[in-house]
Amino acid sequence: MNKNNSTIKPPSISGDTFQINSFEEYKKLYEYSIKDPISYWAEQSKKLHWFHPWEQVLDNSFSEADVAWFSGGRLNVSNNCIDRHLNSKGDQVAIIWEADNTKDSKSYTYRELKHEVCRIANALKTAGVRKGDRVCLYMPMIPELAFTMLACTRIGAIHSIVFAGFSADSLRDRILDCNASVVVTANEGQRGGKALALKSIVDKALQGISSVHTVFVAKRTEKEVTMKAGRDIWLHEAMARERRSCPSEWMASEDPLFILYTSGSTGKPKGLMHTHAGYLLYALQTFEQIFNYQPGDIHFCAADLGWITGHSYVIYGPLASGATTIMFESTPLYPDAGRYWQVIEKYKANIFYTAPTAIRAIAKEGNEWVEKYDLSSLKSLGSVGEPINPEAWYWLYEQVGKSKCSVMDTWWQTETGGIMISPLPGITEMKPGSATLPFFGIEPCIVDENGQEIKDTQNNNGISGYLCLKNPWPGMARTIYGDHERYVESYFTQYPNLYFTGDGCYRDADGYYWITGRVDDVINVSGHRLGTAEIESSLASNPLVAEAAVVGIPDEIKGMSIFAYIIPSKEGVAMKSEEELSGILKQQVRQDIGSFAIPSNFQIVSGLPKTRSGKIMRRILKKIAVGEYDDLGNITTLADSSVVEELINLRK
Ligand code: WT7
Repeated sequence: MNKNNSTIKPPSISGDTFQINSFEEYKKLYEYSIKDPISYWAEQSKKLHWFHPWEQVLDNSFSEADVAWFSGGRLNVSNNCIDRHLNSKGDQVAIIWEADNTKDSKSYTYRELKHEVCRIANALKTAGVRKGDRVCLYMPMIPELAFTMLACTRIGAIHSIVFAGFSADSLRDRILDCNASVVVTANEGQRGGKALALKSIVDKALQGISSVHTVFVAKRTEKEVTMKAGRDIWLHEAMARERRSCPSEWMASEDPLFILYTSGSTGKPKGLMHTHAGYLLYALQTFEQIFNYQPGDIHFCAADLGWITGHSYVIYGPLASGATTIMFESTPLYPDAGRYWQVIEKYKANIFYTAPTAIRAIAKEGNEWVEKYDLSSLKSLGSVGEPINPEAWYWLYEQVGKSKCSVMDTWWQTETGGIMISPLPGITEMKPGSATLPFFGIEPCIVDENGQEIKDTQNNNGISGYLCLKNPWPGMARTIYGDHERYVESYFTQYPNLYFTGDGCYRDADGYYWITGRVDDVINVSGHRLGTAEIESSLASNPLVAEAAVVGIPDEIKGMSIFAYIIPSKEGVAMKSEEELSGILKQQVRQDIGSFAIPSNFQIVSGLPKTRSGKIMRRILKKIAVGEYDDLGNITTLADSSVVEELINLRK
């Protein structure tokens, strides 16, 4: 079989497919959802439980970057994810927790989930948390993290989860940016057999911050930690003091639900803000249709809750649907490359959703790891976070899915709240490497440098350009917390009346979308989104560095890796060796951002290619980093073209 650019018929699926039984039906419903989004989303909104019905489906539009969905409505996310299932599913397992080690696990029924969530909600209230207050969660993947998220939503507090791999400095920035009054953490985390000293990182982050009055500490391990009197409270002790019921606040549709920080091409991370009704509906709707969720299915999304994938497809989508969702504390390689498959066999998981970087890392270890386990329960497979290369795609399809499961290559972003472009299982013909076609209500377009939409050429040869979105959708982030202007500027000023994604894209003759990667200064390393500006400013903050520039280069496992060019300062030049210097700089990035942002290559240089106006020409740096010296393009705009020669000689 020629695997290049082939089309794969979707394996057939069983069960109710939400009234879409053929590709023709998808197309018809898609066209309807675009022509009449108001009616489409009005119908979908019935999937949520409303305390008070909404009055207007959609207010305003992209032109003002001010969008409101389901205005006038009242509902509660925790009520939708828990209480409304209690009559029919009170005793069904809601969350299965699989520990880092292969022995420990726990499960919670919907009824038990309610009790845990309410106890934490009450504990937050006792600590003085009120509707609209920000609560920062810096936690390992333990059930208490899920409970605390839902507890916040229950009382209308806004959670901001910070991935537990971020450094104390990054955590501090995020706490300050949203002015959180409460932090929830754990004494330690446990991941890949290693302990993470979370509480001491929180202590460090909070030095000199007076706005945080309470720190709840979950007890993950037996490790003793210092508890600051008057500020720190053991979570389990606080919960034991509280009642197991707590009313749900009646939240307005557009009330803030959570803040999640992500990197942009410039400046500090952006706190994207999502809202109650639209986000939840979109997470629920995409979860059910894209993974063909059927009642009773066990859903396994391996993402960490510190990222949007965890928010939408470990917690909110599945629980709003009344599904059983697996929370996985470990890594794909711990204790060995069979870990995912062991989990799938153990719980008979039906849906499995992960990132290409994880697939590549496991595939590299050989097929024997996957062959050892019974994966016959699987029905749907998903991939997210970066373009999936056809090799990894086929590996997932053949080795894991035994050619019987559709592979959903799902394209979306922290900003979009839920999946935007993806095949539908059993419906959409797949092309390995393509995210295929848009979800209902989503109208992508491809624009050129001038913001002109590129229409398909007459002979339909396919087009490439920048990926934009034409219309609002319920799951979109409404603002950047505390900085609406930056929101407008980041997404809505490049191209009038369009949302700019930051991704390059090719649309083929069949209308399939192929995401080609970021076109801005964002680098996607192992599915972690990093801004070049953040890494450069960390490097440049070290006194040994005069100037730094980083670029992303292709990496077999991580998708992209970071290549750093360093101009040392006088002190830096005096260092003994380049190795010593890069060692110190690695430590600097670890401290400022986190280990996952550490560059994998350092090149010490005496100059950087710049335009006459002083802008670093990353395009050239990228080419030199990967050894494409003959193809540097136009370098006549450089202020000093001899720099290029030096760089090439250093690399050769
Ligand atoms: C960026 C968003 C969405 C959850 C995880 C990442 C890239 C994401 C795909 C895909 C090609 C993808 C894009 C996007 N991306 N999914 N299926 N194919 N690229 O969320 O951290 O906000 O990053 O990830 O470049 O813009 P995020």
